[in-house]
Amino acid sequence: MKIVVVGSGGREAALALVLARTAEVVVSPGNPGIPGSVDTDPEHLDADLYVIGPEQPLVDGLADRLRAAGKLVFGPGADGAQVEGSKAFMKDLVRAAGVPTAAYATFTEVEPALAFLRQLSAPWVVKTDGLAAGKGVFVTDDLRAAEADVRQKLSGSSFGPAGQTVIIEEGMTGPEVSLFALCDGTRAVALPPAQDFKRVGEGEVGPNTGGMGAYSPLPWLPDNFADDVIARFVQPTLDELARRGIDYRGVLYAGLMLTDDGPKLVEFNIRFGDPDSQVVLLRMTSDLAVHLAEAAAGDLHTPPTFSDTAAVLVVAAAAGYTGPVRSGDPVEGLTAAGAAEGALVLCAGVGMGDDGHLVTAGGRVLDVVGQGPNGATARARAYAALGHITWPGLLHRTDIAGEIPT
Ligand code: AMP
Ligand code: GLY
Repeated sequence: MKIVVVGSGGREAALALVLARTAEVVVSPGNPGIPGSVDTDPEHLDADLYVIGPEQPLVDGLADRLRAAGKLVFGPGADGAQVEGSKAFMKDLVRAAGVPTAAYATFTEVEPALAFLRQLSAPWVVKTDGLAAGKGVFVTDDLRAAEADVRQKLSGSSFGPAGQTVIIEEGMTGPEVSLFALCDGTRAVALPPAQDFKRVGEGEVGPNTGGMGAYSPLPWLPDNFADDVIARFVQPTLDELARRGIDYRGVLYAGLMLTDDGPKLVEFNIRFGDPDSQVVLLRMTSDLAVHLAEAAAGDLHTPPTFSDTAAVLVVAAAAGYTGPVRSGDPVEGLTAAGAAEGALVLCAGVGMGDDGHLVTAGGRVLDVVGQGPNGATARARAYAALGHITWPGLLHRTDIAGEIPT
């Protein structure tokens, strides 16, 4: 089978690596650190299956255009992509589906928004409606700061038109879990849960990022957790999408918070998480190409299987992340890191320097993964491998998967 993976980050590097176990893989556009990367528009590439990694091309209708050309595509059309493209759409959808989630309201005017905000208690949560590259969500224990964020978002100065509708949500607290479900329009199959570390600073402080690290499995979850999430969150949502005439084929990624009142949905995304899916996909022992092709064809029937081993991923980011980052620093030590015991390195934000050497070219530059019989060994291997890698200002957290409860 020939597969085109669309995207250029660590998630696509992992998809390509795992799919290449059984298929011929091309990555569009990929990056100079991902084998099989080609600088050709995916619509100009011929393949048996197209796997679309990031949300933006899905929201822009790439899956629809490929399907209209008769292609087999893993990823929702623009109709299903509204689940991530509009938080207001997603909240309305899951409310109709009866999914447990935070109470919320949507506003375009400042005064009613502030009045609603003041009725809630900490933490206060203010979100932009549209895509904002993971940076449109503000969670704070300071009501004044939340009020200022509402004013700023509604003025259109922070996220442009995406920010001109805000969602104010009841704040939830508890550990977060990512659950990826493969969907074929009517059926959903869960992959093992993962956890990612969202804040830039040690101890989960500082600004939200796309994710600074991740691990899987989560030995502290109840055995029936994934089944329960499918039954109470994913399947009702897929059914509600179908009721609305949306044939959803791709990933539904449930971001869940385990509150004192049980698991609640933080959000659904329409794609694999980055970096949280990498640690799940790398543990797969069945054929990912088969699962994705079945989902794309509306015929999921082969159950995915996973090894009992653990995977821990640590992101190596460029100087300045999450703000403007410096690019062009030579990445040293990749070969030694990749050769370290139980380790592999996925290239995310890398470019090609003038001398043919990989250089930093983005915020999250590399995903360094350790695998082993348990979380502690996997973690030690990830950090040992990371120790080989250098560039000026390399930034990483030292506390990823530091205390995995058993
Ligand atoms: P989102 O982009 O909606 O996933 O939000 C990004 C992050 O903000 C989540 O992963 C949570 O850590 C946090 N967050 C979002 N919504 C809430 C909420 N209602 N209560 C507490 N934290 C939240
Ligand atoms: N790691 C969080 C996300 O992909 O949205």
